Amino acid sequence: MKLGLIVAMEEELKIVLDNMDINEKTEYAGMIFYDGIYKGVKTIAVICGIGKVNSAICTQILISTFEVDKVINIGVAGGIGELEPGDVVIANSLVQHDVDASGFNYDLGRIPRLDTFDFKPDRELLEIARKACKKIDNHKIYEGRIVTGDQFINSSEKANWLKRYFGAIACEMEGASIAQVAYLNKIPFIVIRSISDNADKKASISFDEFINIAAENATIILENLLKEISKIEEDK
Ligand code: ADE
Repeated sequence: MKLGLIVAMEEELKIVLDNMDINEKTEYAGMIFYDGIYKGVKTIAVICGIGKVNSAICTQILISTFEVDKVINIGVAGGIGELEPGDVVIANSLVQHDVDASGFNYDLGRIPRLDTFDFKPDRELLEIARKACKKIDNHKIYEGRIVTGDQFINSSEKANWLKRYFGAIACEMEGASIAQVAYLNKIPFIVIRSISDNADKKASISFDEFINIAAENATIILENLLKEISKIEEDK
Protein backbone atom coordinates (compact mmCIF):
# COMPACT_ATOMS: atom_id res chain seq x y z
CA MET A 1 0.00 0.00 0.00
CA LYS A 2 1.35 3.40 -1.00
CA LEU A 3 -0.19 6.65 0.09
CA GLY A 4 -0.13 9.97 -1.74
CA LEU A 5 -0.16 12.95 0.63
CA ILE A 6 -0.84 16.34 -0.96
CA VAL A 7 -0.71 19.76 0.62
CA ALA A 8 -0.86 23.13 -1.13
CA MET A 9 1.67 25.08 0.92
CA GLU A 10 5.02 24.53 2.60
CA GLU A 11 3.59 25.42 6.02
CA GLU A 12 1.17 22.50 5.72
CA LEU A 13 3.89 19.88 5.18
CA LYS A 14 6.57 21.14 7.57
CA ILE A 15 5.76 18.80 10.48
CA VAL A 16 5.39 15.82 8.15
CA LEU A 17 8.75 16.41 6.44
CA ASP A 18 10.46 16.91 9.82
CA ASN A 19 9.23 13.48 10.90
CA MET A 20 9.27 11.45 7.69
CA ASP A 21 12.05 9.01 6.72
CA ILE A 22 12.74 10.26 3.21
CA ASN A 23 14.41 7.84 0.75
CA GLU A 24 14.20 9.82 -2.45
CA LYS A 25 13.19 13.21 -3.83
CA THR A 26 12.01 13.55 -7.44
CA GLU A 27 10.80 16.62 -9.31
CA TYR A 28 7.94 16.68 -11.81
CA ALA A 29 6.08 19.75 -13.07
CA GLY A 30 8.10 21.86 -10.65
CA MET A 31 6.82 19.88 -7.66
CA ILE A 32 9.08 17.85 -5.37
CA PHE A 33 7.78 14.39 -4.53
CA TYR A 34 9.20 13.03 -1.24
CA ASP A 35 9.22 9.24 -1.25
CA GLY A 36 9.56 7.63 2.18
CA ILE A 37 7.92 6.20 5.27
CA TYR A 38 5.67 8.28 7.50
CA LYS A 39 4.18 6.80 10.68
CA GLY A 40 4.86 3.31 9.34
CA VAL A 41 3.14 3.92 6.01
CA LYS A 42 4.86 4.09 2.58
CA THR A 43 4.13 7.67 1.57
CA ILE A 44 4.76 10.05 -1.30
CA ALA A 45 4.39 13.56 0.14
CA VAL A 46 4.23 16.64 -2.05
CA ILE A 47 3.55 20.37 -1.95
CA CYS A 48 1.42 21.01 -5.03
CA GLY A 49 1.10 24.80 -4.92
CA ILE A 50 -2.13 26.73 -4.66
CA GLY A 51 -5.23 26.21 -6.77
CA LYS A 52 -7.13 23.64 -8.79
CA VAL A 53 -4.73 23.26 -11.73
CA ASN A 54 -1.68 22.64 -9.54
CA SER A 55 -3.52 20.19 -7.33
CA ALA A 56 -5.05 18.31 -10.29
CA ILE A 57 -1.68 17.94 -12.05
CA CYS A 58 -0.11 16.77 -8.82
CA THR A 59 -2.80 14.19 -8.10
CA GLN A 60 -2.48 12.69 -11.57
CA ILE A 61 1.33 12.43 -11.18
CA LEU A 62 0.87 10.69 -7.82
CA ILE A 63 -1.49 8.20 -9.44
CA SER A 64 0.19 7.62 -12.83
CA THR A 65 3.87 7.95 -11.97
CA PHE A 66 4.05 6.92 -8.31
CA GLU A 67 1.11 4.51 -8.46
CA VAL A 68 -0.29 5.50 -5.08
CA ASP A 69 -3.27 3.48 -3.82
CA LYS A 70 -4.90 6.24 -1.78
CA VAL A 71 -4.78 10.02 -1.78
CA ILE A 72 -4.97 12.19 1.33
CA ASN A 73 -5.17 15.96 1.21
CA ILE A 74 -4.64 17.95 4.39
CA GLY A 75 -4.23 21.66 5.00
CA VAL A 76 -6.12 24.77 5.98
CA ALA A 77 -9.48 26.19 4.89
CA GLY A 78 -11.76 29.16 5.44
CA GLY A 79 -14.54 28.33 7.90
CA ILE A 80 -18.15 29.14 7.05
CA GLY A 81 -20.85 29.70 9.67
CA GLU A 82 -20.06 28.66 13.22
CA LEU A 83 -16.60 27.20 12.48
CA GLU A 84 -13.66 28.87 14.17
CA PRO A 85 -9.93 28.95 13.54
CA GLY A 86 -8.35 25.72 14.74
CA ASP A 87 -11.48 23.60 14.18
CA VAL A 88 -11.05 20.58 11.92
CA VAL A 89 -13.25 19.60 8.95
CA ILE A 90 -13.45 16.16 7.39
CA ALA A 91 -15.04 16.51 3.95
CA ASN A 92 -17.88 14.09 3.29
CA SER A 93 -18.58 15.83 -0.02
CA LEU A 94 -16.62 18.22 -2.24
CA VAL A 95 -17.81 20.57 -4.98
CA GLN A 96 -16.04 23.12 -7.18
CA HIS A 97 -18.00 26.27 -6.38
CA ASP A 98 -16.53 28.26 -9.29
CA VAL A 99 -17.81 25.96 -12.06
CA ASP A 100 -20.52 27.81 -13.98
CA ALA A 101 -22.15 26.28 -17.04
CA SER A 102 -25.51 27.84 -16.17
CA GLY A 103 -25.73 29.08 -19.78
CA PHE A 104 -26.49 25.43 -20.63
CA ASN A 105 -28.91 25.14 -17.71
CA TYR A 106 -26.49 23.29 -15.46
CA ASP A 107 -26.67 24.09 -11.75
CA LEU A 108 -23.77 26.17 -10.48
CA GLY A 109 -20.97 23.83 -9.43
CA ARG A 110 -22.02 21.08 -11.81
CA ILE A 111 -19.34 19.97 -14.25
CA PRO A 112 -21.00 19.47 -17.64
CA ARG A 113 -21.26 15.87 -18.85
CA LEU A 114 -19.85 14.37 -15.67
CA ASP A 115 -21.97 11.75 -13.92
CA THR A 116 -21.74 13.31 -10.48
CA PHE A 117 -22.34 16.72 -8.87
CA ASP A 118 -20.08 16.21 -5.90
CA PHE A 119 -17.12 14.01 -5.02
CA LYS A 120 -17.39 11.81 -1.96
CA PRO A 121 -14.47 10.39 -0.02
CA ASP A 122 -13.77 6.70 0.33
CA ARG A 123 -16.03 5.18 3.03
CA GLU A 124 -13.22 3.28 4.71
CA LEU A 125 -10.95 6.34 4.84
CA LEU A 126 -13.86 8.40 6.18
CA GLU A 127 -14.48 5.85 8.91
CA ILE A 128 -10.77 5.82 9.82
CA ALA A 129 -10.68 9.64 9.81
CA ARG A 130 -13.63 9.73 12.23
CA LYS A 131 -11.76 7.37 14.54
CA ALA A 132 -8.59 9.44 14.23
CA CYS A 133 -10.55 12.56 15.22
CA LYS A 134 -12.14 10.92 18.26
CA LYS A 135 -8.68 10.78 19.84
CA ILE A 136 -8.46 14.58 19.79
CA ASP A 137 -10.26 16.60 22.41
CA ASN A 138 -8.79 20.08 22.21
CA HIS A 139 -10.55 21.21 19.05
CA LYS A 140 -13.96 20.79 17.43
CA ILE A 141 -14.34 18.33 14.61
CA TYR A 142 -16.92 18.82 11.85
CA GLU A 143 -17.96 16.64 8.97
CA GLY A 144 -19.57 18.25 5.94
CA ARG A 145 -19.17 19.72 2.49
CA ILE A 146 -16.01 21.56 1.52
CA VAL A 147 -16.19 23.77 -1.57
CA THR A 148 -13.18 24.53 -3.74
CA GLY A 149 -12.46 27.30 -6.22
CA ASP A 150 -9.63 29.35 -7.63
CA GLN A 151 -10.59 32.17 -5.27
CA PHE A 152 -9.45 33.18 -1.79
CA ILE A 153 -12.79 33.95 -0.15
CA ASN A 154 -12.65 37.13 1.91
CA SER A 155 -16.22 38.34 1.93
CA SER A 156 -18.91 37.24 4.36
CA GLU A 157 -21.53 37.76 1.62
CA LYS A 158 -19.74 35.25 -0.60
CA ALA A 159 -19.13 32.87 2.32
CA ASN A 160 -22.83 33.03 3.27
CA TRP A 161 -23.78 32.33 -0.33
CA LEU A 162 -21.48 29.27 -0.38
CA LYS A 163 -23.31 28.05 2.70
CA ARG A 164 -26.78 28.81 1.34
CA TYR A 165 -26.23 27.52 -2.15
CA PHE A 166 -23.90 24.56 -1.59
CA GLY A 167 -24.42 23.85 2.12
CA ALA A 168 -20.66 24.37 2.51
CA ILE A 169 -18.99 24.49 5.91
CA ALA A 170 -15.52 25.35 4.61
CA CYS A 171 -13.85 26.69 1.48
CA GLU A 172 -10.40 26.20 0.05
CA MET A 173 -8.63 26.02 -3.28
CA GLU A 174 -7.60 22.40 -3.99
CA GLY A 175 -9.74 19.73 -2.32
CA ALA A 176 -12.45 19.18 -4.92
CA SER A 177 -10.02 19.14 -7.85
CA ILE A 178 -7.91 16.51 -6.08
CA ALA A 179 -11.16 14.67 -5.46
CA GLN A 180 -12.18 14.90 -9.12
CA VAL A 181 -8.87 13.44 -10.32
CA ALA A 182 -9.05 10.65 -7.73
CA TYR A 183 -12.68 9.97 -8.75
CA LEU A 184 -11.81 9.76 -12.46
CA ASN A 185 -8.98 7.33 -11.67
CA LYS A 186 -11.11 5.33 -9.19
CA ILE A 187 -8.61 5.96 -6.39
CA PRO A 188 -9.86 6.35 -2.80
CA PHE A 189 -9.28 9.79 -1.30
CA ILE A 190 -10.03 11.90 1.74
CA VAL A 191 -9.71 15.64 2.44
CA ILE A 192 -9.14 16.94 5.97
CA ARG A 193 -8.70 20.64 6.65
CA SER A 194 -8.28 22.84 9.68
CA ILE A 195 -9.77 26.33 9.79
CA SER A 196 -7.40 29.30 9.44
CA ASP A 197 -9.97 32.10 8.95
CA ASN A 198 -13.66 32.87 8.56
CA ALA A 199 -13.57 33.68 4.83
CA ASP A 200 -14.62 37.27 5.67
CA LYS A 201 -12.90 40.61 5.20
CA LYS A 202 -10.41 39.80 7.95
CA ALA A 203 -9.57 36.47 6.29
CA SER A 204 -6.07 37.31 5.10
CA ILE A 205 -5.01 38.63 8.53
CA SER A 206 -6.53 35.64 10.30
CA PHE A 207 -4.96 33.30 7.74
CA ASP A 208 -1.47 34.62 8.51
CA GLU A 209 -2.14 34.40 12.25
CA PHE A 210 -3.58 30.89 12.32
CA ILE A 211 -1.98 29.05 9.43
CA ASN A 212 0.64 27.33 11.59
CA ILE A 213 -1.82 26.30 14.33
CA ALA A 214 -4.34 25.10 11.76
CA ALA A 215 -1.68 23.19 9.80
CA GLU A 216 -0.55 21.56 13.06
CA ASN A 217 -4.11 20.49 13.90
CA ALA A 218 -4.60 18.92 10.47
CA THR A 219 -1.25 17.13 10.87
CA ILE A 220 -2.22 15.68 14.27
CA ILE A 221 -5.33 14.14 12.70
CA LEU A 222 -3.23 12.89 9.78
CA GLU A 223 -0.79 11.19 12.17
CA ASN A 224 -3.64 9.39 13.93
CA LEU A 225 -5.13 8.45 10.59
CA LEU A 226 -1.85 6.96 9.37
CA LYS A 227 -1.38 5.04 12.61
CA GLU A 228 -4.82 3.51 12.04
CA ILE A 229 -4.01 2.71 8.38
CA SER A 230 -0.71 1.15 9.41
CA LYS A 231 -2.53 -1.07 11.97
CA ILE A 232 -5.04 -2.16 9.32
CA GLU A 233 -2.23 -2.94 6.85
CA GLU A 234 -0.36 -4.99 9.47
CA ASP A 235 -3.49 -7.07 10.13
CA LYS A 236 -3.90 -7.83 6.40
N1 ADE B 1 -7.80 28.60 2.51
C1 ADE B 1 -7.79 29.08 3.75
N2 ADE B 1 -8.65 30.10 3.89
C2 ADE B 1 -9.25 30.25 2.68
C3 ADE B 1 -10.23 31.14 2.18
N3 ADE B 1 -10.77 32.06 2.95
N4 ADE B 1 -10.60 31.01 0.88
C4 ADE B 1 -10.04 30.06 0.10
N5 ADE B 1 -9.10 29.22 0.52
C5 ADE B 1 -8.71 29.29 1.80
